[in-house]
Amino acid sequence: MHLRQFTVPVALFGALASGYADPEGCSGSCVVYDPTIIQRSSDSKYFRFSTGNEISYASASSLLGPWTTIGSMLPDGSSIDLDGNTDLWAPDAHYIDDLYYVYYAVSTSGSQDSAIGLATSETMDLDSWTDHGSVGIQSSSSKYYNAIDPSLIEVDGTYYMNFGSFWDDIYQVEMNSAATAASGSSYNIAYYPDGTHPEEGSYMYKYGDYYYLFYSWGICCDYNDDMPASGQEYHIKVCRSTSATGSFVDADGTACTDGGGTIVLESHGEVYGPGGQGVYDDPTYGTVLYYAYTNTSIGYADDEKQFGWNVIDWSTGWPVV
Ligand SMILES: *[C@@H]1O[C@H](CO)[C@@H](O)[C@H](O)[C@H]1NC(C)=O
Repeated sequence: MHLRQFTVPVALFGALASGYADPEGCSGSCVVYDPTIIQRSSDSKYFRFSTGNEISYASASSLLGPWTTIGSMLPDGSSIDLDGNTDLWAPDAHYIDDLYYVYYAVSTSGSQDSAIGLATSETMDLDSWTDHGSVGIQSSSSKYYNAIDPSLIEVDGTYYMNFGSFWDDIYQVEMNSAATAASGSSYNIAYYPDGTHPEEGSYMYKYGDYYYLFYSWGICCDYNDDMPASGQEYHIKVCRSTSATGSFVDADGTACTDGGGTIVLESHGEVYGPGGQGVYDDPTYGTVLYYAYTNTSIGYADDEKQFGWNVIDWSTGWPVV
């Protein structure tokens, strides 16, 4: 129900008038929110999971599509006993010990009563998923963070989960060796001191000597009802560190825990409010930044957000699209 089909022309390495490349083409099922991408090891097929419809997912033979909707990852919702357990958000896909892991969030809009859950599958086929419920990352109004927007990274054999949205922004916790449960205490890795502290949707990626902490800044949604002031809409920022567990700074040297963040992608041309991003090391295109965006020619509703991606240029040591 969140998905509809349309086709846009394929236009690789699009115009650079604004300084930002236009998104590469997408055909087939291109409506997404909070996408995550993984390829299946057996046949290299791409799978794309996204918010809505108990985690919608689709597959394609290329990042360009055509994307074909498969269905819901957990059609019965999550076993996590919280409001929102039949409206799962912000999936994050990985391949660990011959199993496909998809972390997801259970919450409701504006609430801190949230938790991060895990579903696994051997194949990613429809109806092949086992829900494991909470991974022990939960929040309520007594916490500094909101336990949504999971993003797992492995660092020299140790797994860490990055998560968080608004309140005190982005947190990190060490996970157990199977990446199925938190095994330590959470600590803050990014914080914007002013206003509503609008940072969320982090994604950590290692390139060269650095861990890059991408996150989405600003207002994500409801653009058709309530248009944010210019510059307050979603955009993608980054900090980096030689450590995966802290000391992230932006290109000016400002700490990510003190409002730092260098803009990677923001509204330009027909692209409005890009965010909910991830990074994928694609065998054909190299490292790509993927995200959801509003195409101003299509519409501003949440269920009109489009799947976009661009190849990342790392030549300056900072990701440029
Ligand atoms: C926006 O949508 C229009 C109509 O489908 C399409 O022609 C255009 O290429 C799209 N622009 C972007 C940046 O996706």
